[in-house]
Amino acid sequence: MNRYSRVAGTGSYLPDKVLTNAELEKLVDTSDEWIRTRTGIERRHIAAPDETCSSMAEHAARRALKAAGQTPADVDLIVVGTTTPDLVFPNTGTLLQQRLDIHGCPAFSLEAACSGFVFALSMADKYVRLGEAKCALVVGAECLSRITDWSDRSTCVLFGDGAGAVVLTPADEPGIIGTHLHSDGRYKDLLFFPYGVSSGFDKLRSGAVAGITMLGNEVFRTAVRTLSRLVDETLAKNGIERDQIDWLIPHQANLRIIQSAADKLGLPMDKVVLTVQDHGNTSAASIPLALDTAVRDGRIHRGQTLLLETFGGGFTWGSALIRY
Ligand code: ACO
Repeated sequence: MNRYSRVAGTGSYLPDKVLTNAELEKLVDTSDEWIRTRTGIERRHIAAPDETCSSMAEHAARRALKAAGQTPADVDLIVVGTTTPDLVFPNTGTLLQQRLDIHGCPAFSLEAACSGFVFALSMADKYVRLGEAKCALVVGAECLSRITDWSDRSTCVLFGDGAGAVVLTPADEPGIIGTHLHSDGRYKDLLFFPYGVSSGFDKLRSGAVAGITMLGNEVFRTAVRTLSRLVDETLAKNGIERDQIDWLIPHQANLRIIQSAADKLGLPMDKVVLTVQDHGNTSAASIPLALDTAVRDGRIHRGQTLLLETFGGGFTWGSALIRY
């Protein structure tokens, strides 16, 4: 039985098209100044019409496999976190598996909104620890632009598209030190997409479409409170002190939420990986995108301790403590 999993490689992908705040000023009644000061976002990437969640996931996955020194043929588990799957079914994990031309290993996707990647990572970690996977591909991928109401200024300025991936392999030492997941469906009405298959489908078909619906300031307050508790829980459960954290890699929803989490840890902002200014909120893709960015630009080194933390629709929230 393998005792631990480790991150053997990371990869990510962003669509070519960049949508700046200045361009959004032409679409809705907003301003670059409002978006930057309230959220920290300056631009975001938007998928081309022929790009999908699984096509972006494929780019990220191939890059992560290459970085890990593995090939698609080595992969024996695929878990994709996404809220914006290509299709209702087959699931996006299976579509990614087909794109990688591998056949037979379990491949599935799970939806936990912005927490999708951390939930997927936690699940894949267990497979590797139990000896049921030796090369697990974990992906967060989103095409949020397709469920964004581009006439709603309160939400359309926030979101972007992209994908990030990691490869987990067995190790004698952590690796993934611990993951901590939570959900609470009481908060459903604060952040949701109003159409699905068994509910709201008729409205979707009739074209009466709205987009992501959010009570932003309520979500903001709850996120700050919850992430503060989550940091305490993660440190306590793993016997880690604040000053042992080398990098905070938070979900990239809002710079002000990230700053409050960094304050809680007593971490200066130069120890926080920030991509929100360039990517916007890419939901499940945001943490693996940020992780890959900081690995590839040389900030994150082997042996360092990373704290990943997320909060999103559901509400769902969670953390992963990693020795990289
Ligand atoms: N441009 C200009 N003005 C705007 C815009 C805009 N794009 N959007 C809203 N406003 C206006 C509002 O209409 C309101 O005007 P009023 O005072 O005249 O009524 C004013 O700005 C303030 O609106 P608030 O919603 O109170 O603004 P707030 O400071 O809370 O910022 C924001 C909004 C950025 C959405 C913030 O609340 C936030 O980031 N919330 C958390 C988002 C988040 O973390 N989501 C979780 C993950 S998402 C997921 O899971 C898919």
